Amino acid sequence: MPIQFAVIGCGAIAQRRHIPEIEANRYGKVVAVADPNEARVNDIAGELGAEAFVDHKKMLKAMDLDAVVVAGPNALHAKQTTDALRAGCHVLVEKPMATTKAEARRMIDTARKARRYLMVGQNQRLMPPHVKAKQLLDSGALGKVLSFRTTFKHPGPDGWSIDGARSWFFDPDAAFMGVTGDLGVHKVDLMRWLLGQEFATVGGTLATVDKRDARGRLIGLDDNAILQLTTARGVVGSVEISWTNYGAEENHTKLYCEKGAMLIGGDSEFGVVVDYRNGNRELHKVGAMASNEQQTSSGVADAFIDAIRKKRKPAIDGVEGYKSLTVILAAMDAAKQGKTVKIRY
Ligand SMILES: NC(=O)c1ccc[n+]([C@@H]2O[C@H](COP(=O)([O-])OP(=O)(O)OC[C@H]3O[C@@H](n4cnc5c(N)ncnc54)[C@H](O)[C@@H]3O)[C@@H](O)[C@H]2O)c1
Repeated sequence: MPIQFAVIGCGAIAQRRHIPEIEANRYGKVVAVADPNEARVNDIAGELGAEAFVDHKKMLKAMDLDAVVVAGPNALHAKQTTDALRAGCHVLVEKPMATTKAEARRMIDTARKARRYLMVGQNQRLMPPHVKAKQLLDSGALGKVLSFRTTFKHPGPDGWSIDGARSWFFDPDAAFMGVTGDLGVHKVDLMRWLLGQEFATVGGTLATVDKRDARGRLIGLDDNAILQLTTARGVVGSVEISWTNYGAEENHTKLYCEKGAMLIGGDSEFGVVVDYRNGNRELHKVGAMASNEQQTSSGVADAFIDAIRKKRKPAIDGVEGYKSLTVILAAMDAAKQGKTVKIRY
């Protein structure tokens, strides 16, 4: 019997990744979907042969579920996750996992008490170029990482969301964070994982330069940001993120290490390029990085299903999501104060 899944929030990420990836896995089946957009949820349920609900609580009561994907607006993640955990389901929640540290702690606590798994959709860790980069770093071939620069820039959620420019992404109450919470949390999580270190301080600039709401006013959230980070062991680096890159999507990282430099996702043919200090060059052809235009399997649903089947805590669990969220909240605080701040986990 496949793992019985429900999906709460049936927008772009659910339709382009979670639902097809669960359905493609022989151990998973989507049996229910919930979304307040009645026409949307009915259509999706019809295609899947699943049950449709406009209220996730009614769904949790009515259905006998094993696992739930929480993939709606950021501000709803915490409540919908704890509701699903309390109903006895394992939960895969999209990033950012919550909008405050207290919410994230509550989610972790609820999962522990319910003895259910909580995974966070920080899928950058699973992209083939990043997996290769992690292997190379862990092998010691490049020595210690000294500094880094990481970039994630695309045209913004108005081109991605199922509801375009009218979506929750530009509503401060529903999103809570702009590009820093959307793309910044991806890159902070990636860097924490690649470095195997926690960030100690963060400073940065958050700006709204171009995105406008339905009334033509600049949105009340950041659409560009530049963050400076240091780890406790002295690695320094920057994170550059943007929702206003109207050219080709950028999703690349450069690591400057004792024995050379490594470029990830910056070459169209080779996912990882290493230039050693001694002049040698290593080109690694690995699978592609997913982009908004080019969706490749994220591996998230497979990893979650695998964890449930093998009764093993997911590697990208609530605590990992909490730490990455904490860095982002500290970055927002630093930008507001106009100074570098210590990150308190
Ligand atoms: N991991 C990634 O790479 C990635 C990529 C995109 C989005 N996301 C995350 O996924 C989440 C959803 O983003 P999206 O791009 O799919 O947004 P979207 O705007 O395309 O879809 C959001 C959906 O949520 C629904 N919704 C609104 N209120 C709801 C409620 N009360 N209950 C249930 N559903 C509700 C909307 O009707 C819509 O169908 C966000 O947290 C976002 O940060 C992650």
